[in-house]
Order: sequence, then structure tokens, then C-alpha cells
Amino acid sequence: MMAPWTSRVPLAVLLLVLLAARCTDGYKPVVIVHGILDGPKEFETLSTFIKKVHPGTEVHTISLYNNLESLKPLWMQVRDFKKAIKEIMNKSPKGVHLLCFSQGGVICRAVLSTSPNHNVHTFISLSSPLAGQYGDTDYLKKVLPNHAKKMVYIFCYNKMGQKMSMCSYWNDPHHRADYLRGNTFLPLINGEKPHKFMKEWRENFLRIKKMVLIGGPDDGVITPWQSSYYGFYDAREDVVEMRNQEFYKRDTFGLRTLDARGDVSVCVQSGVEHTHWHSNFTVFTNCIEKWLI
Ligand SMILES: *[C@@H]1O[C@H](CO)[C@@H](O)[C@H](O)[C@H]1NC(C)=O
Repeated sequence: MMAPWTSRVPLAVLLLVLLAARCTDGYKPVVIVHGILDGPKEFETLSTFIKKVHPGTEVHTISLYNNLESLKPLWMQVRDFKKAIKEIMNKSPKGVHLLCFSQGGVICRAVLSTSPNHNVHTFISLSSPLAGQYGDTDYLKKVLPNHAKKMVYIFCYNKMGQKMSMCSYWNDPHHRADYLRGNTFLPLINGEKPHKFMKEWRENFLRIKKMVLIGGPDDGVITPWQSSYYGFYDAREDVVEMRNQEFYKRDTFGLRTLDARGDVSVCVQSGVEHTHWHSNFTVFTNCIEKWLI
């Protein structure tokens, strides 16, 4: 007579195998969008982190506008990144996660607002100037030589200047009117300047299930660093926190709604320099890992 367990063991093993397969199968693909003056190469470590903790995850680091190409007009980049992201989404009926670094976060924000029917589940912004940038760090001096931050607005807020990616999120708190008039990117994306797609863009953006905002005080490039979670300078260069920003209070692009839903998660980490965010395993463990399911 056969002992009851001999027939049950294979069944149990089979079930475990099936379960494991289901779990691996369950991780949504992760789409990575790089930042200014970098490219997919800089994200190999991050990709390794993801596959190590969640084996079987598809990771797509989009190879577009790499390195110096990243300085090209931002709306043009948005158009092409949107196309690439859409192709991945179409092959992933269960949805994708979008993980975007620095300038890439600003690109992703525009992609989300201008993509009807997107299926991005979680949008992770890794040290991005989401509320703008006002600071001329060494890193940016490579791009804008001989310009002190006080003068950049003259260069940026016109048709020519807007052809350089960085000018599209340059936010000079001392020249608000010029920013609203001459910046044809960020004031529209954040709904600071009314436009006819406001309602549609807000609805598109709000299709995401979760937004994770990562940044920290030792970043050294994003200025003010609180811009990584929608804080920004007022005219006296004091930082006004996200919830006191006009675009938040007036819910111009969906931020207040998302926050009220409980779907904005902020993860502040100190001791991380700008170009180290994506390769720091502590940051990955503390701020990213749990959302990639
Ligand atoms: C990694 O991140 C942690 C905080 O999450 C920080 O304390 C540490 O200094 C970082 N290390 C590097 C090399 O950036």
C-alpha cells in the first residue's frame, strides 16, 4: 500500500513551482528614463538591483537622447519617449512602472499628462526638478558656461532658449512673469499657466495609482532640493513646501487629488549626491523596492 504522502509530495511540489512561476510572472515591467548628460549605461546597477530582488522582472532602460543629446528640446524628447514607452505598455496589459531620474522625471511627468489611456501603475521620480530648477551647480556649468543663475532667465525664456532642455524647467523665482510667458514647458505641465488641455491632462495624469517622490538635502544639483517633491522657492528664495504651493492648492494638474487619495509617497534620504541616486542600494531598499510589484 502506498503511504498517503508519496502521492501528495509531488503535488505539493508542483503547486509550489506553479506559485513561484506566478509570482515571478506577477512583477510588472519597469521602464527607466535617464537624466541629463547620461544614458542607459548609468542604470545598469539599478537594473541589477531590480532583477536581484524581483527575479524575472523585465527592465527596459530607454535608449534615446543619451548624453549630449539630452540637451535637445524637451517637448521633442517627450514625443519620442512617449512613443517608446507606449510600445512597452502595449505589450504589458497588466501595466508598467515608470522610474525616472532627474530631467527624466520632468519628461515622464509630461508623458503621463499627455498620454490618454496609459497604464502606468507607479511613477517613481528619482531626484527630479519637478517644480523647477534655480541653481547653477558645477554640473550645470558644463552646460551653461559663463552664466550666473541670475542671468539665465534672459537666455532661457525665449524661443531660442526653450530649445535647450534645461530651460524648459528653469524656474527663476525673481522673474515670475517671464517664466510664465517665456517657458513653454513646465508652467503648462504643472498647470501654472491655464491652457485648454488642463482637464484632460489632469485626468491622464491621475490614471497612475501611486507617485513616489525621492530626493534629499545632499543632492548638490537639484536646487532647491525640495523641488524633488514639489517644494520651491518663493520670491525671497524661501522654500515653500508642496502643500502650500499654488498648483497644489488649486489642484491644477491633479497633485492635491492624488495626495488626498493617499497616493503620494515622499522618501527623503540624506547623504546622497545627485549622480549616486540610482546606484545606491540603501536608497533602492528604502524607497524603491517595495513599489515594484
Ligand atoms: C547611500 O544612501 C544612504 C541613504 O539612503 C546614504 O546614507 C549613503 O551616504 C549613500 N551612499 C552613497 C555612496 O551615496
